[in-house]
Amino acid sequence: MAADRGLFRRAPVRPLLAASILSADFARLGDHALQALHAGADLLHVDVMDGHFVPNLSMGPAVCAAVRRACPDAFLDVHLMVTDPGRFLEPFAKAGADSVTFHVEVEGDPLRLAARARELGMGVGLASNPETPVHRHEPFLRAFDLHLVMSVHPGFSGQAFLPAVLAKTRWLRERLGTEARVEMDGGVGPDTAGACTEAGCDVLVSASALFGAPDLRKAAQAMHAAAARG
Ligand code: DX5
Ligand code: ZN
Repeated sequence: MAADRGLFRRAPVRPLLAASILSADFARLGDHALQALHAGADLLHVDVMDGHFVPNLSMGPAVCAAVRRACPDAFLDVHLMVTDPGRFLEPFAKAGADSVTFHVEVEGDPLRLAARARELGMGVGLASNPETPVHRHEPFLRAFDLHLVMSVHPGFSGQAFLPAVLAKTRWLRERLGTEARVEMDGGVGPDTAGACTEAGCDVLVSASALFGAPDLRKAAQAMHAAAARG
C-alpha cells in the first residue's frame, strides 16, 4: 500500500500526532519509528539540520530513504532546518518524503521553492522560528499546505515549550480557517498539547515526550487525550 501523501491536504478530523524521529534510537531507527506509528502516532517528522541554519547536524536523505523502506506506509513530514533548502528538495523527494517544510528566514523565494516541491510530488510547509514575526507568513498563507510554528529555538529536542508562540498560532488559524494545517514543533507533550490545539494547531510534533517515555503507547494516548481537551 502506498503512503498517504494527501494527509495534510484533508480537513482535520482530530489533531495529528507527528513523531519526531530526532529522539528515536538511531541504532534501531526503523523499528523505533514503526513502534511509534503502532503506538498511535499519525505520521513521522524528520528533522534535517545542516550545522549552519541551526547549531547541530542530524540526518540527510539517506536516513529518510531508510525510514521510508522501514515504514512504507508512513507519511514522512520533512522539516528542513537548512540555509539552502532548494538544494535538498529533489534528494528528499527521491528519498520518499511526502511533505517538505522549509523556513521563512532562509534566502530564496518561498513561492518558487514551494512550486518546485509540488512539481516533485511533495506537499509543502513554511516554518518560522519563535522570534520571527508571524507577519512573515502573511504573503504566503494560501501557497502552503502547512505553517509550522517553532515553539523552541530549533536545533535540539528536549527543550522547554515557549508559550509566547501561541499568539502566532492563533493569528495563523484566524487567517487560514480550515484551509491549511498549523503545526507546533518543540516542547510539545501532554502538558502543552492542549494549549496548542486550543490555539488552533492541528499537527503536534513530539520527539522527547514520545520516544523518551517509558511506554510509547501510553505517551501517545496521553498526547491525543491532551490535544482533544484543547
Ligand atoms: C527541533 C526540532 C523538533 C524537535 C522537537 O529543532 O525541529 O522537531 O525534534 O523535539 P521535542 O519534542 O523533544 O521538543
Ligand atoms: Zn522539527
